[in-house]
Amino acid sequence: MNISFAEISIAKPGALALVVAEGASLSGVAAELDRKTGGALKRAMKAANFTGKSGSVLEILAPHGVAASRILLLGAGKPADANATTFENAGGELVGRLERAKETAASVIVDGLKAGKLDTGDIAARVAFGAKLRSYHFDKYKTKKKDENGRVKTFAVLSKVATAARKSYATLEKIADGMFLTRDLVNEPPNVLYPAEFAKRVRTLSKVGVKVEVLGEAEMKKLGMGSLLGVGQGSIRESQLAIMRWNGGKPGDKPVAFIGKGVCFDTGGISLKPPAGMEDMKGDMGGAACVTGLMYALAARKAKVNAVGVIGIVENMPDGNAQRPGDIVTSMSGQTIEIINTDAEGRLVLADALWYTQNRFKPKFMIDLATLTGAIMVALGKEYAGLFSNDDKLSKQLAEAGEAENEKVWRMPMGPAYDKQINSQFADMKNTGGRDGGSITAAQFLQRFVNDVKWAHLDIAGTAMASPQTPINHSWGSGWGVRLLNRLVEDHYEG
Ligand code: BES
Ligand code: MN
Ligand code: ZN
Repeated sequence: MNISFAEISIAKPGALALVVAEGASLSGVAAELDRKTGGALKRAMKAANFTGKSGSVLEILAPHGVAASRILLLGAGKPADANATTFENAGGELVGRLERAKETAASVIVDGLKAGKLDTGDIAARVAFGAKLRSYHFDKYKTKKKDENGRVKTFAVLSKVATAARKSYATLEKIADGMFLTRDLVNEPPNVLYPAEFAKRVRTLSKVGVKVEVLGEAEMKKLGMGSLLGVGQGSIRESQLAIMRWNGGKPGDKPVAFIGKGVCFDTGGISLKPPAGMEDMKGDMGGAACVTGLMYALAARKAKVNAVGVIGIVENMPDGNAQRPGDIVTSMSGQTIEIINTDAEGRLVLADALWYTQNRFKPKFMIDLATLTGAIMVALGKEYAGLFSNDDKLSKQLAEAGEAENEKVWRMPMGPAYDKQINSQFADMKNTGGRDGGSITAAQFLQRFVNDVKWAHLDIAGTAMASPQTPINHSWGSGWGVRLLNRLVEDHYEG
């Protein structure tokens, strides 16, 4: 979908949409449109009881007196309640409707709207952002495009401040591109996206100025990463560790660090998962995909920050060489781990990735993302990601960024009583802590590998994939986390 910004004109062919505030009487271009159509807008609003409530849409087909094939009024609610999400949702909802109607061209007018800190230009940009996010489709493996819906080709956002809107959108577009990269990686099937292929796609980030290094099994063995390597040892695919660096900040400034779980497929290993729904475990690299999309977005928008992304990429398979329950592995930190359940593999991958990151980069903070536990969905459903942290300030910043970007996080408790649950009879720790507090004991495990660095862990098992469809996301892989962390960096760690 090609998005453009232009001055207001109602002579455009295709569908014509208007964002309207709740309860406002038609003025400006809306009033003009009503006049041209012989009062059709006002009559339709009355007939449909349309008042402009947020999320409501009024559609008028084949209106008399104008070139448009249809006019859509998109309700934005009361200006006092409206925020960025409101306008993104309006743009997304519009694209959804256009696709169902097989409209290929559309214009949307944003005129005389304001909401909080958002001026008309920002609002126009947010409408475009929502439209762009909704226009994502992952259909490369359908040879017969049986989809009943059409595709929007051209989408023009019309306002009196087209130049400002275009500028405001330029950054958002980069974030959308990062999210699309994340969605693509999560949606790819596991026979295509195995660890080496994932690493290959990470290397393409060099085109936006990210420095990429990839370590294979021999190098990781030298570093002593027995925890990560144990997970991949039952797979014929070589495990990888990809390191991304974006240096947009002051030279020598400590970087912020993001670490991702990249299990390209999680069968559970010898502790094999049941078959129902196992195909979803192609998305078990959602954390790594988010880190990759985030690093892309930061670099593409030339964020003034030094950032590193470290992702452990493996495949968890059962075979004759696979890790067993009862095995004891030695992590890069020197700590030993008794494997109780080979399906608790994500924490084993992150243990070495976290240790490596703090040891090499001495970062300001580390944030890891992982589709780590089914238990986090029992606790929080799919609305909030679980947040676990050793730092109140970082937690607060994440919670606020989450509210602002509508990618919400909920802080969970941690502490010595939970930590005790992973003590082992035979090694320094074991990789599961029993059924109670499953997401928390997983986080306690990770914390044993963060040393004294400020750290937050986001359990995204519920939000990275198969999460509820929204006006701006109908993709299985949601791209969750890119916006959240981009906002965190933008608000607190740039300049
Ligand atoms: N990848 C899974 C967690 C998961 C489950 C993510 C469903 C998304 C959807 C993880 O590796 C796992 O298997 N966790 C186990 C841990 C248990 C063995 C301690 C779980 O949650 O059951
Ligand atoms: Mn698992
Ligand atoms: Zn897993």
